[in-house]
Amino acid sequence: MDMMACAFEQGVTFFDNAESYALGESERLMGRALQRLGWPRDRFCVSSKVFFGSVPHPAPTQRGLSRKHLIEACNQSLSRLQLDYLDLFFCHRPDPETPIEEIVTTMQRLITQGKILYWGTSEWPASLIETALRVARERQAEPPVMEQPQYNLLVRKRVEEEYRALCQSFGLGLTTWSPLASGVLTGKYASGEASSAEGGRLRLPGYEWLGAQLDSESGARELEASRKLLALARDRDAKPSQLAIAWCLSNPHVSSVILGASRKSQLLENLSALEWVRHMTPELKAEIEALCPNPL
Ligand SMILES: NC(=O)c1ccc[n+]([C@@H]2O[C@H](COP(=O)([O-])OP(=O)(O)OC[C@H]3O[C@@H](n4cnc5c(N)ncnc54)[C@H](OP(=O)(O)O)[C@@H]3O)[C@@H](O)[C@H]2O)c1
Repeated sequence: MDMMACAFEQGVTFFDNAESYALGESERLMGRALQRLGWPRDRFCVSSKVFFGSVPHPAPTQRGLSRKHLIEACNQSLSRLQLDYLDLFFCHRPDPETPIEEIVTTMQRLITQGKILYWGTSEWPASLIETALRVARERQAEPPVMEQPQYNLLVRKRVEEEYRALCQSFGLGLTTWSPLASGVLTGKYASGEASSAEGGRLRLPGYEWLGAQLDSESGARELEASRKLLALARDRDAKPSQLAIAWCLSNPHVSSVILGASRKSQLLENLSALEWVRHMTPELKAEIEALCPNPL
């Protein structure tokens, strides 16, 4: 609750969630926090995402994007969040087992019922988003209006290449995730600071993949990039996190950068990246991009 209060005081208005985060516990926690904070409903936006389910080992009826699960997942998220409606509702992944017509018409139904305001996708291929846009147009239904892709200095291709035409032609908005690549771009893994930090994502159940990634060949290249970003930031009297986040925000197709800070100090440092957006000249961007192990 303190983190949400701090974010709100600093001007943050959008809070992201999903049915699958801690199997629904993340939504319950956010719901209790929103009750206690008592903000007027027109001052903040909350999203949820549907696909993975909210129970361990979900049955086929408890996951995916079928009409049944979309409707039940939406009702369950609203109940856990103690809200009357979701501002944004994302299809967390594509579901090859559900026809796109069924997804579009069910989202239309949820909008008509006032349970969601907008719907979108997360990590869908551009071709499938285009199909959903076409089907929505044919059926005079509300189209998907936002995508939630990973976007950071280490993962760029989808946002900068695959979605570019959709952003330009349809005004698709991007609420991007992992601006710091799970903390790698803060330089703390390269400097060894992370191993001495209390708590931390490396020790969290469910994040075993992060340790494995850092130990891999591509992880070594990413750590090298984060070391170089640390040096560049020192030269500029900045923090690597500020440069990494401001770089994401400087892409005009990015509507929002979803921060994943786990402490108030991290949150405040990350929000201070806003000051660096106006310093993100083409020269500085080029210098930062030259550090990337995966250039476009
Ligand atoms: N749609 C999707 O499929 C999808 C997937 C993943 C995430 N998301 C959304 O995106 C959000 C953000 O993703 P993310 O958590 O991966 O974002 P991130 O900002 O790249 O990583 C957050 C982690 O980085 C570390 N960190 C953050 N700020 C720091 C700082 N200033 N100094 C040092 N370390 C710092 C913290 O790790 P420690 O805890 O180790 O300190 C924190 O847990 C998620 O909460 C979720 O809402 C969506």
